[in-house]
Amino acid sequence: MEKSPFPEFDLSGRVALVTGAARGLGRAIALELAKYGADLVACDILPEVESIKADVEGLGRRVLVQQVDVCKIPAIQAMVDESVRVFGHIDILVTCAGINIPQWAVDVTEEAWDKVNDLNLKALFFCCQAVGKQMIRQKKGKIINLSSTMGSVGMERRAAYSSSKAGVNLLTKILAIEWAPHNVNVNAIAPTFVDTPLTKPMFEEQGFRDAILKNIPMGRIASTRDVAGAAIYLASEAANMVTGHVLLVDGGWTAH
Ligand SMILES: NC(=O)c1ccc[n+]([C@@H]2O[C@H](COP(=O)([O-])OP(=O)(O)OC[C@H]3O[C@@H](n4cnc5c(N)ncnc54)[C@H](O)[C@@H]3O)[C@@H](O)[C@H]2O)c1
Repeated sequence: MEKSPFPEFDLSGRVALVTGAARGLGRAIALELAKYGADLVACDILPEVESIKADVEGLGRRVLVQQVDVCKIPAIQAMVDESVRVFGHIDILVTCAGINIPQWAVDVTEEAWDKVNDLNLKALFFCCQAVGKQMIRQKKGKIINLSSTMGSVGMERRAAYSSSKAGVNLLTKILAIEWAPHNVNVNAIAPTFVDTPLTKPMFEEQGFRDAILKNIPMGRIASTRDVAGAAIYLASEAANMVTGHVLLVDGGWTAH
């Protein structure tokens, strides 16, 4: 990395584990972390996650690809053990694996509710727990959970999703309090809508983009770069005194 006037942002020598790294926000954040100097553990359920290897190695960083379903809870610990075996430490965790199944409340099935909450909240917690235990041993670490603006404001067809994200917000605060004495920072990023494979089907619905834009004073959908910038900050030494915070990258949605 080029010399920065704020050297705290330099992530050289750090190891970042990113879930959901095959595409969308996870991939964008993983690549930015690598640009700032971090080696990577890139985790995703999709085999496409393998393709990040060339990009990360092209930046001169090391990468361990883990094709893992984080909903299979014991697989999380195995991934963490393998990461520590290969790299010796994990300094940054970014939990990006997440889904949304938009449904009116009257139509939400038990299966859909479980699918959303099992990944967005339960698997996220056990990723934090497994990596958190390692960070507590190291007496150092940064955890960044992907929440959503929908965890702070209500919106139709978000019963399961918003519940999971509101859960992520409070979980983030609890872990921050418990792990602060171990020098482990736990924060969340809560983006507004971003163009990714997750939101593609939503934006195909006529009128949806305009309806969303009415809520965003900045007048645009967020980019993956907007969110990656927040992740770099929270992963860095510049954020050493920031913990238990939910950083809304929402273009002003919640300022109303
Ligand atoms: N895109 C948005 O508008 C937006 C807004 C706010 C918050 N978010 C949150 O950001 C996170 C990333 O969203 P995105 O838009 O990049 O979604 P995405 O669908 O583009 O990417 C999610 C990734 O998670 C992976 N994944 C899914 N299930 C998994 C599992 N069981 N184990 C491991 N990996 C799994 C997917 O394969 C995919 O690569 C999610 O938590 C989402 O809720 C997204």
